Amino acid sequence: MASLHGIVAIIVVLVVVATLVTVQYCDAGTVEMTSCADAVPARSRPEVVSITEFGGVGDGRTVNTWAFHKAVYRIQHQRRRGGTTLLVPAGTWLTGSFNLTSHMTLFLARGAVLKATQACDISPRHHDTRSWPLVEPLPSYGRGRELPGARYNSFIHGDGLRDVVITGDKGVIDGQGDVWWNMWRRRTLQHTRPNLLEFMHSSGIHISNIVLKNSPFWNIHPVYCDNVVITNMIIVAPHDSPNTDGVDPDSSTNVCIEDSYISTGDDLVAIKSGWDEYGIAYNRPSSGITIRRVRGSSPFSGIAIGSEASGGVSNVLVEDCNIFNSGYGIHIKTNVGRGGYIRNVTINNVRMNNIRNGLRIAGDVGDHPDEHFNQLALPTVDAVSIKNVWGVNVQQPGSLEGIRNSPFTRICLSNVKLFGWRNAAWKCRDVHGAALGVQPGPCAELTTSLSPGFCSY
Ligand SMILES: *[C@@H]1O[C@H](CO)[C@@H](O)[C@H](O)[C@H]1NC(C)=O
Ligand SMILES: *[C@@H]1O[C@H](CO)[C@@H](O)[C@H](O)[C@H]1NC(C)=O
Repeated sequence: MASLHGIVAIIVVLVVVATLVTVQYCDAGTVEMTSCADAVPARSRPEVVSITEFGGVGDGRTVNTWAFHKAVYRIQHQRRRGGTTLLVPAGTWLTGSFNLTSHMTLFLARGAVLKATQACDISPRHHDTRSWPLVEPLPSYGRGRELPGARYNSFIHGDGLRDVVITGDKGVIDGQGDVWWNMWRRRTLQHTRPNLLEFMHSSGIHISNIVLKNSPFWNIHPVYCDNVVITNMIIVAPHDSPNTDGVDPDSSTNVCIEDSYISTGDDLVAIKSGWDEYGIAYNRPSSGITIRRVRGSSPFSGIAIGSEASGGVSNVLVEDCNIFNSGYGIHIKTNVGRGGYIRNVTINNVRMNNIRNGLRIAGDVGDHPDEHFNQLALPTVDAVSIKNVWGVNVQQPGSLEGIRNSPFTRICLSNVKLFGWRNAAWKCRDVHGAALGVQPGPCAELTTSLSPGFCSY
């Protein structure tokens, strides 16, 4: 009996402890963290196929382009209700570029590395001349971003798709970009370099839980898309790798980038919407863009808007970001000839450390696609609110330099404190707005005496 009592007592104690632990856990769980990851969830699929079923070999030497084409073809043409997961198991899977299809998940297992064949791997020896096919330039750019004419197909590409997930258990997509970067450096590129991941005209795209490294060009490029979630990503490339932007939402709506670490050779996130006369004619804005809990470093900008923003950019929310060892913390950039607008941008709670230039809003940044851009196409920048920014080791607080015939309006700096070099001062011209609690003291162009409706603590 005594021992039975003992066991009962132990069970009671265990139940009480378990209850306490659960209660504490639930309490912690009630601290709500805003997230848009559920907007486009990484849905599970009723069917899983492995790349090995299509002849894939993960030995790091076999070129698997044909296996990926076959796998995607099978998923596209024998569609299962709820879609299909294409599993890439542990191993190193060399492949040329391939396209995805709707209602599929590309899942990279732990230890899986999807490795892009390099440009020099395109040889008859590999029977793999499809590795880097050329595709039409984007209509909103009128040409390749780097060179006139066609551009290389992205490593992983999707056009006109719905319901696509790229996820995994920390698997890696390695663009092996150094050959491309060297062609850029030696000026031997024939066409605009490929992005690592690109979706065009697609809806319901979820990218999470994988590592992207050494992209030849931009890492993730959603263009003409809506409902895109990018979360829990690691995106890395050397700081001297040219144009390796992290994520470039481009002429897209409802794009959310959250909980990611990005360290590359160019802007970590750059919101775009087409280039000069081509972007104006195509007229497809970027709107509803959320960037939250992103941290990282770039020789250029942490968070950028532009400079290609000719279709317009509006309703942008950036919050809880941490930018360090970078050129610019926040960089809103446009140019004469761009046209379009940048408006209703809220940037809240950003920390900076070791930054050359904390905040720059400029109307003279970026090149033109050709000489046909319209000198009279002046962009507008309106209602940009930058609040609760705290920076240390910031060499220059920054500059707000508008366009003479199109001054920037309703620019609000509130509780922006950037510490660093002594005597550093803001540079302003052709800008209207207000500044509250700004250090070092704001320039005269921003009123401080009254608190207008658009600017408050
Ligand atoms: C991949 O998509 C691009 C652009 O939509 C297209 O031009 C190309 O033919 C596709 N490639 C394959 C192998 O389907
Ligand atoms: C401004 O953008 C936010 C999203 O950041 C949106 O919720 C709000 O409705 C927009 N305001 C206007 C006036 O469009």
